Order: sequence, then C-alpha cells, then structure tokens
Amino acid sequence: LSFTSIHPKHFGNHFHWGVAIAAAQNEGAYLEDGKSMSIWDAFARRQGKIKGGDTPFVAADFYHRYKDDLLLVKALGFNSFRFSLSWARILPDGTGRVNKQAIDFYRKVIEECLKLDLVPFVTLYHWDMPFALEKEGGWTNSLVLKWFGRYVKVCAEYFGDLVKNWIILNEPLSFTALGHMLGQHAPGRRGLNNFFPAIHHAALAQAEGGRIIRELVPGAYIGTTFSCSEIIPFTQREEDIKAANRVDILMNRLFIEPALGMGYPKDDSFPLLKKLEFFTHEWRYIDKMRFNFDFIGLQNYFPVTVKHSNIIPVINATQVKAKTKGAPHTDLGWEINSESFYRIIKKFWLYGGIKEIIITENGASFKDKPENGMIKDDKRIAYFQTHLRALLKAKKEGVNVKGYFAWTLTDNFEWNLGYSARFGLVHIDFKTQLRTIKHSGHWWREFLQGG
Ligand code: BGC
Repeated sequence: LSFTSIHPKHFGNHFHWGVAIAAAQNEGAYLEDGKSMSIWDAFARRQGKIKGGDTPFVAADFYHRYKDDLLLVKALGFNSFRFSLSWARILPDGTGRVNKQAIDFYRKVIEECLKLDLVPFVTLYHWDMPFALEKEGGWTNSLVLKWFGRYVKVCAEYFGDLVKNWIILNEPLSFTALGHMLGQHAPGRRGLNNFFPAIHHAALAQAEGGRIIRELVPGAYIGTTFSCSEIIPFTQREEDIKAANRVDILMNRLFIEPALGMGYPKDDSFPLLKKLEFFTHEWRYIDKMRFNFDFIGLQNYFPVTVKHSNIIPVINATQVKAKTKGAPHTDLGWEINSESFYRIIKKFWLYGGIKEIIITENGASFKDKPENGMIKDDKRIAYFQTHLRALLKAKKEGVNVKGYFAWTLTDNFEWNLGYSARFGLVHIDFKTQLRTIKHSGHWWREFLQGG
C-alpha cells in the first residue's frame, strides 16, 4: 500500500479526525483571571526540575489566542478538537468556590469550536492538580476522590449542555509513575509509598468520574485514555522475556484491567503485584474501579525494548534505547515503529471488553527549525503516514476505531523537557508567539481535504 492509496474515507464517514492539546501545556496565563498554581507551576519553580529552567507560565498562550488556534485546527482540515480543563482555573482552592472567569473562558472555547463545526472532546484531568490539593497529599490522599468528584460535577454542570464527549483521565500510568514513583514529573514524589496510593486513587477516580458524567450529562460519550507501548524483549533469553512481561504489566495492563472490571493484573511471578493487592485490598474495590466506558482512548508514541537488569530495583528490567539497537528514532530517541503501533492496538482490542477505540494521541518530536519561513518536517509526515496505514490495517481487521487525534496542534510545554521538544503541526517561536504551519500541517490539510 503506497500512502497515496490511503484516503480519509477508508476510515469511515463519521470518523473523528482531530488534534489534541492540554491546559498546562498550552494555556499559559497561569495566575490570570483567578487561576491558582497547579502542581506543574509549582514544580517549575523548583531548581533543576525542568530542562533549561523553562516554566509553563506562558506556554503557547492559548488562553489569549484560542480563537486563532481554533481557526488553525479548522484550516488544517480537522473536524474534532481535544483539550483539557484546568482544575486550578475552575476551582482555585481545588474544592469549594467556583471561578466564574474560568467558566466563561471554557464556555467561549467550546462555543468557538461549535461555531467552527469542530467537535469538542474535553479531558478532565491532564496532569495539573491544583497545588492547594497537593499540599494536602494530592493523589496520595484518599480525599482526592471527593475533591475530584466535586470538580467533575462542576464541569458537568457548567459544560454538559455543550459538550458530549468526555475523557476522564489522561494516561494515569504516566502521572502516577513519573510523578509519584520516579519524581521526574510534578509533583516530584518518589517511591512505592507514593506510587501505590496514587495508582489506587487514580483507578477509582477514573471510574467514579465516568459515573458522575453518565448521571449528569444526558447522551454523553465517555472515555478515558491510556498510554500504551509494545514491549519487546531484547533477546529471546528467558530472563529478558520475563523482564518484558513485568514492564508490560506496568506500562500496558495496570489501569485498563481494573477499568474493565478485572481488578489489577494478576501474575505470580511479579512480587510487586502482590504488594499492590495487599496495599489496596483490591477485592473490596473491584466494582468501584470498573466503568462501562463508551470508548477507550489509546495513546502511543513508541515501542519499548527491555532486558533483564539486577541494578534496577522492583522491576529488574532496563530499557535498550532505539539508538543502541540501531532502530529509527525521533529526536527524543523514541523508536519509530508503526508495526508496533498496529500490534499494540490489536493487543488492547483482544481484551474483548472495549466497545470503541479512539487514538487520542500519536505524534513525533523533531528539532524543527524554520528556514526561509518554512519548516520542512518530512520525518513527521512520514511518521503520520506510516502510523495511519497501520491504524487502517487494524481497522480493516475488525478493530472498532472511531477516531485519530494527532499530538499536537502547536509546539508547546513538553513537561520536564520544557520547550526543547517540539511535537506541533504548527511551529511556535516562543519569543514572539509567531505561529508557522509546518509542512506536516500542510500535509494534513491536503490529506483531509482529499476526503
Ligand atoms: C502526554 C502528552 C505529551 C506527549 C508527548 C503524552 O504522554 O499525554 O501530554 O506531551 O505524551 O510526550
């Protein structure tokens, strides 16, 4: 199949073609109109946490430029737009008082989408817990279920008349593992004593959020998103295969299985799971972690190759980088492998309990530099083409895929990498906020207009 033989119509007539962004990565305006600090604002103030000392305080200035940015989404030919709500903007104390200015802002964003005929997909939590709640323990405190529940109710009440498509959490594994086990992301917590409660509360909050939206928003289409990566053993030696299995459990199975009503993953060869089960008294909560999601959002960027290691505690596995393997990779060193994208989608579909799948994120980072006002990001175009082809193959084989969202609209604040990593279809000069459509953006427009 050459790429020219692929047409948007092959994905079906009501397919969601979109781009995704997130509040903490795009909005900026971090203390404006009543917003309080999120854990990412606080984390950025700590020395050495973010590459280059960057902060999300201004980011892509979406707060002031949302109209222009939505026009870009439209101009590039997309029909859907995924963005997240900032909890710290809507409830500056985390709970209690509602900030009317935040409600006005998000209603304007949503109304603008509708005016442009872009279907809004709203993510409730894309990693930016109000710092006020982090001071009380954040995701490690069981009260987070109450706090989150109230936040979801407020969002449902104020936006439910306009928004039908809801995403409860963005990648619970990422914010629990990177933020509560490894300390690389906000809030910078480490160790199993933080990781376990964060996992359990996120698994419960995810299902509870779904129940609240179901109750309060008639006709809602409800999903949540999971990061996923095919895990490849470095060799066929038994110890590498076992190491790959442990990483697979953590990276792919930890959150989807409780959401589907299966409880946490079971595997006697992985002692961590026994500890987690013991810590959570899982049997009491198995029904509470389950929710009948209308769709599951899958987010994939790369496969992970692993080998056994005695040096890394708990999981006894280490990653073999794409470069070391001699595999193609992005400028962040992430392996480019569209066949693995196909295989991981199939793997999730095989659970059987998933009704519909939307690819809620997929994309690549390169060191794009404007030359004569142009950004020739051919490698990103190739990345999208090969991944779309892989997605189509999965769809043709019966996977019920309903949408694809490219990550991301514009370059933005890439978490602990600051502004050093560019994923956008539109380039931003962060000194001037000048936007320039990259060749990949033009490519999307041509592809989608062919439809
Ligand atoms: C996250 C995005 C992030 C992207 C690229 C995903 O894990 O949801 O917020 O920018 O990956 O790292």
